[in-house]
Amino acid sequence: MKKLKKPIFLTFICGLICFISCASKIVSESSSKLSLGTHFKDLFYLGAAINENTILGLDPKSATIVNSEYNTISPENSLKWMFIQPSPNKFNFKAADKYVEMGLKNNMYIVGHALVWHNQLADFMQNLENSAETRAHVENHINTLVSRYKGKIDAWDVVNEAFEEDGSLRASVFYKNMGKNYIEEVFRKTEKVDPDVDLIYNDYNLYKPKKRAAVLEMVKKFKANGTKINGVGVQAHWDLKSPSIEEIEQIILDVHAAGVYVSFTELDISVLPNPWEMVGAEVTQNFSQFEGDPKMNPYPNGLPDNIQEKLAKRYQEIFNVFVKHSDKINRVTFWGVMDKHSWLNDWPIKGRTNYPLLFDRNYNPKPAYKSVLEVNTDQQN
Ligand code: G3I
Repeated sequence: MKKLKKPIFLTFICGLICFISCASKIVSESSSKLSLGTHFKDLFYLGAAINENTILGLDPKSATIVNSEYNTISPENSLKWMFIQPSPNKFNFKAADKYVEMGLKNNMYIVGHALVWHNQLADFMQNLENSAETRAHVENHINTLVSRYKGKIDAWDVVNEAFEEDGSLRASVFYKNMGKNYIEEVFRKTEKVDPDVDLIYNDYNLYKPKKRAAVLEMVKKFKANGTKINGVGVQAHWDLKSPSIEEIEQIILDVHAAGVYVSFTELDISVLPNPWEMVGAEVTQNFSQFEGDPKMNPYPNGLPDNIQEKLAKRYQEIFNVFVKHSDKINRVTFWGVMDKHSWLNDWPIKGRTNYPLLFDRNYNPKPAYKSVLEVNTDQQN
């Protein structure tokens, strides 16, 4: 599946429509019983972010789920700057190499996350003030990672979370030292090292019009300048109500209209109270005063059936819209494999019990798994 990129695959399908449609229906009906990935295989890649335990073979149950259910992987933390280049030019490739090896072995679409991000950055990068020095480190980082995994990693999240909610550029060390065109500069550097890899800009809260407009303006500028960009990564850290299906649909339509594909890169659905109307993934937001408050952690011993059903219904509605617009979507990736290991147990309040994924704390499929598997894949636009 990996090297059979979607457009070629779709052309192939169209060419053999009469004969193949009957046959492929039979195949997809029987394979839909097998796994999530095969259920959606003609529409988009489906996968999960995996943590270091899974990568290093310390969580075989999680690896079994990934290998049997999904056809794309993202590294939850292992390729981030602070882990892979903790001090200048000292690279630690142990987990990253294993991650790529796992993807290759299972013929998966392998994502690199993330080359340039203000968060989880190595200490030595945090307080740089000199632009030449910053550029040299960025260049070395990109050259080293992108060339090492050239032809193996299929898509890089080149820049992550560069925009503020109002659409202005975040005052990161990269922005301060490299200037307002740093994103484009970094995309160009990445393309130079691996001209064939897909290049993604990744961010959260793209259902908010101002933020989305800023990202899409950037995409259009890249296109006008001949700077390669293949897709926008929509992080999809959502909850049971927000964003609405209409808002999700609008993201897909707008990104597509800007001339690139959409990847839902970090899908999870929080079921816990959110009294501050907090959305997205701004990791500096932490409400430690609520730690241990039972009102903020209402389901410590299990998710009640009615909420479990709401989650299943919400996931089904979301996948219905993904299927409807699957011609515009490259990939859908859950941010984690099972509930116990989700980052949402510790954000924005540490130590809660959240249930955002398709597999429960015992690695068993939840009703949401079934509801996603039951999505009718024939309802494309
Ligand atoms: O580095 C320490 C390690 O030394 C220690 O052994 C371990 C024990 O708890 O903690 C380690 O750091 C943790 C790190 O993940 C690696 O496990 C941090 O405390 C923890 O805060 C960090 O959280 C990650 C978060 O990014 C940081 O911003 C989450 O796992 C990861 O899921 C999350 O992922 C981000 C995406 O990359 C970008 N989009 C938002 C998304 C959610 O925040």
